[in-house]
Amino acid sequence: MYGKWTKLLSLLAALAMVAAACGSDSSDDDAGSDSSGDDAGSDSSGDGDGESGSVEVFSWWTGGGEAAGLDAMIGVFAETDPDIEFENAAVAGGAGTNARAVLASRLQAGDPPDSWQGHAGQELIGTYVAADQIESLSFLYEEEGWLDVMPDTLIPLISSDGEIYSVPVNIHRANVLWANPTVLSDAGVELPTDIDGFIATMQTLRDGGMDAPLAMGEQWTTLHLMETIMLSSMGPEAWNDLWDGSLAWDSTEVTDALEDFDTVLEFTNKDSTALSWQDAGQLVLDGNAAFTIMGDWAEGFFREVGSEPGTDYVWAATPGTEGTFQFLSDSFVLAKAAPNRDAAIAWLRVAGSIEGQDAFNPVKGSIPARNDADRSLYGEYLLSAMDDWASNTVVGSLTHGVVANDSWKSEIDSALGLFLIDRDVAGFQDALVAAEAANS
Ligand code: GAL
Repeated sequence: MYGKWTKLLSLLAALAMVAAACGSDSSDDDAGSDSSGDDAGSDSSGDGDGESGSVEVFSWWTGGGEAAGLDAMIGVFAETDPDIEFENAAVAGGAGTNARAVLASRLQAGDPPDSWQGHAGQELIGTYVAADQIESLSFLYEEEGWLDVMPDTLIPLISSDGEIYSVPVNIHRANVLWANPTVLSDAGVELPTDIDGFIATMQTLRDGGMDAPLAMGEQWTTLHLMETIMLSSMGPEAWNDLWDGSLAWDSTEVTDALEDFDTVLEFTNKDSTALSWQDAGQLVLDGNAAFTIMGDWAEGFFREVGSEPGTDYVWAATPGTEGTFQFLSDSFVLAKAAPNRDAAIAWLRVAGSIEGQDAFNPVKGSIPARNDADRSLYGEYLLSAMDDWASNTVVGSLTHGVVANDSWKSEIDSALGLFLIDRDVAGFQDALVAAEAANS
């Protein structure tokens, strides 16, 4: 459709190399370039010097740790560019489910925000670049020296035809199991390390009176659960193979993975569709559920509500995925024909700066995309995530835009919606085969 195979092959080749690149000693990188946000020298590309007016920035970071992270970065922007008014156009709803629908209609109507949040990978390249909706930002990388401080192998995920299209602010991990340690110790169980152990632990908890040990929220959180369970069941290589056509969707690996997912779903709360991901996290903090599987923005939420790592919540890789880091990266783009182009570029300079990233990420619950972060600013969980990002096998997330473009993802999501009603694994797998065929 969008030259899918070519793009996916380069994406997957890049992913295979990410761990090695991230593991390189960041002190080797030239982190000394000026990243103060508004002092880039030439004015030819609308640098931040003395810009004024306003900039409309679109995201879905409106609450539960997310807004606080954005606010921290806006705080840096207010210092570097005090004369630019920041118009926060965030639309509520986890994973951008609502926001992205609003964004799509604005783009269709020719009314783009100046800059918006998009995920590195196929969401960016196979959706916005493919539709010619965003500008190349290669000039900013050159001016700000960002190629020296962003992991080399993240660059192909935000590039097309040699041009770089976004400014990544972070790296999030999708495959994290969050747990209430008191619930576990009261039940005499440990954090599970594989799917069978996970299922057995949830059965023990259920036998002890906790009907729904795994708290989940609205449908996208179930897609998120599905991808982490598939990763666990299939392993990272087979997961990658699914997205470049080298493993068929009607394979037994997929059947087994969907059956595991079906079993895990048995232990989730019946009211999940009415809950946000924060609500599901709160069930864990309150001891009404033992677990939730959620990206590490959950840590931003846990901290915001005053919970203590290690005491109120503990974490592990989703059972069976230890050693694999299923990642996504939030990045900001520049709209084609942005109404406030110069101010948007000033914002993007802050988003890519060390000051911006070190303000945003400790609060958001993510690690910086840049590799020259000040580790002293990050808590225990995020330090462990930095180490895992540098040493694990890295694979991409489906729910959060890395491995499939919007068209493919939305067909998978529709198939999931039906499956959640009929729970017919064979029918679900057929629908996934059809989704792949329609997008190749
Ligand atoms: C993801 C996004 C994260 C976080 C999460 C929950 O798609 O990349 O930054 O916002 O949704 O809303």
